[in-house]
Amino acid sequence: MRIAASVRALEGYVPGEQPKSSNVIKLNTNENPYPPSPAVAEVLRTFDVDRLRKYPDPIFTALRERLAEIHNTVPERIFVGNGSDEILTLAARAFVEDGEAIGSFNPSYSLYKTLAEIRNVPFRPTELAEGFAWAEPDVAGNVALFILTNPNAPTSIRYEDEKIAAFAKDFPGVVLIDEAYADFALKSLDSLAAAPGNENTIVMRTLSKSYSLAGLRLGYAIGPVDLIDALYKVKDSYNIDAIAQAVALAALQDIEWMRANTAKVIAERNRLAGELLHRGWDVPESATNFLFARPPAPHKAADVFKYLRGRNIFVRYFTYPRTDDRIRITIGTPDEMDALVAALDAMA
Ligand SMILES: Cc1ncc(COP(=O)(O)O)c(C=O)c1O
Repeated sequence: MRIAASVRALEGYVPGEQPKSSNVIKLNTNENPYPPSPAVAEVLRTFDVDRLRKYPDPIFTALRERLAEIHNTVPERIFVGNGSDEILTLAARAFVEDGEAIGSFNPSYSLYKTLAEIRNVPFRPTELAEGFAWAEPDVAGNVALFILTNPNAPTSIRYEDEKIAAFAKDFPGVVLIDEAYADFALKSLDSLAAAPGNENTIVMRTLSKSYSLAGLRLGYAIGPVDLIDALYKVKDSYNIDAIAQAVALAALQDIEWMRANTAKVIAERNRLAGELLHRGWDVPESATNFLFARPPAPHKAADVFKYLRGRNIFVRYFTYPRTDDRIRITIGTPDEMDALVAALDAMA
């Protein structure tokens, strides 16, 4: 067999289902229920096809300048990836030697484990405390890269910046803070990205959630110049296509649109949390665009998941030991949330 043994042994990451039917209330992959900025549609409508004859800007100059402006930093501290998932892959390539390990919390984004498997290095999870609260990261066993999601997924809980900063200060490896959901947190999380003296910390964001552009595939990282340069060295030459660069720039020029959509999602999140709490569910306080909710006895999360699916309402269910008593519900429109609550109320 010609396939590398480590790849043969791989389970691979299984993304949330993308149903073919449009007759589904889709609350399973943390997409935004509202459309992206009208400026995005305008760019696509007027895009000069002749530009596709040539290669795109390999270092996405205009995008980096705009991102630097937004985050009050310089373009040299910014990297852009084909989704933040690509940045995670590149970080595993750039910051981990053979024989070193990748760490993260458990539960967290399950792709991190797969990344370690693909990179063929050990994965060393640190169990979160009771209630998915912060635990001191265990970096024994040669952990060179610790990936930390804040606010965390799928738990929806936000950690305090001070705890992360204190850990990063003493950790000799690279800390990658995955802030995919930061725009839905109550307070801005910009401080860590901009913190001077942070020599080992990279903060990563995505346009997939708050900017309603999951289909575009665009994420970015902010960090010290030497770490950012390392990501450039290991990326594909043209990792962001010309259309994606133009579309992302337009979206990033209309932050007000993103903020307005985010505010609607947050309001709906808080309303749904109230509805579920009122019905006896356990719902940790969410700083994201989803809830990680445990149904009251005698209901089992797996059964609720199946029941909702039977009614064309798709949520996410993770079969891991600490997550299998909950479902993860992406926040949709008020109508979608009403339909969800009505379905739950009709559950036998
Ligand atoms: C914690 C976390 N990081 C990263 C991603 C992937 O983001 P992107 O669409 O930018 O690749 C997700 C997507 O669900 C996520 O939940």
